[in-house]
Amino acid sequence: MAAQRIDKILSSANIASRSGVKALIKAGRVLANGQVVKRPEEKFDPLTTTFSVDGQPVVVRSYSYIMLYKPQGVLSASTDKRAKTVIDLLPDELKDRDLFPAGRLDKDTEGFILLTNDGNLAHKMLAPKSHVYKRYEVHCDRILTESDCQAFANGIQTGEQTFLPAEMKLLGENKALVEICEGKFHQIKRMFHAVGAEVIYLKRLKIGGVSLDETLAVGQARRLTEQEIVELLSRNHGINEEI
Ligand code: URA
Repeated sequence: MAAQRIDKILSSANIASRSGVKALIKAGRVLANGQVVKRPEEKFDPLTTTFSVDGQPVVVRSYSYIMLYKPQGVLSASTDKRAKTVIDLLPDELKDRDLFPAGRLDKDTEGFILLTNDGNLAHKMLAPKSHVYKRYEVHCDRILTESDCQAFANGIQTGEQTFLPAEMKLLGENKALVEICEGKFHQIKRMFHAVGAEVIYLKRLKIGGVSLDETLAVGQARRLTEQEIVELLSRNHGINEEI
């Protein structure tokens, strides 16, 4: 991997913001290959250098993983000639190379979207056999009942499409939490349509074991923590997990 500035490497590894990392370097708290780093402009190969801050080793990854609280009205795409995309929302500090949304949310859906440049993770997240469940909050135009939950649990079959069993938990008259492990086009809306309900609001709350950070405002983003990355990369998440 090409050499990069140490302040960029450590801020990408979630140690601190760019200016926070500069302060750590100034205080002599950052080592690279056992030597104190003197200036934030110094360059290192992020994958072959060992870094530590206050004696604690730093895990440096070759890919980026960013959680964005996608607002309604924004496209889940990397670029678009006319509309604003999820990548356009990122501050410069998070605009790493080759980011794309791992899985799409409709333009009128809000919530957790993962931006990454790790194609393998994106593939894993979307493949049903990986059992990475995505949790949604859904509001409908009619009252939902236990028989809707049962229909979802059985798997929904429409004329042209089959949807795998999904878990639904009623939240209120016309509100529910739903977990699905597929990512078919307009999937949640089509599943509800199949039981005679129209979705009027949709928000993704969780991907696998990682929840949308409640401290993020709509449109804000942050890097996943190391623990969240490990959670996404290593574990499968089944429907039996507490919804
Ligand atoms: N299902 C939908 O119908 N829309 C989304 O944006 C996500 C899941």
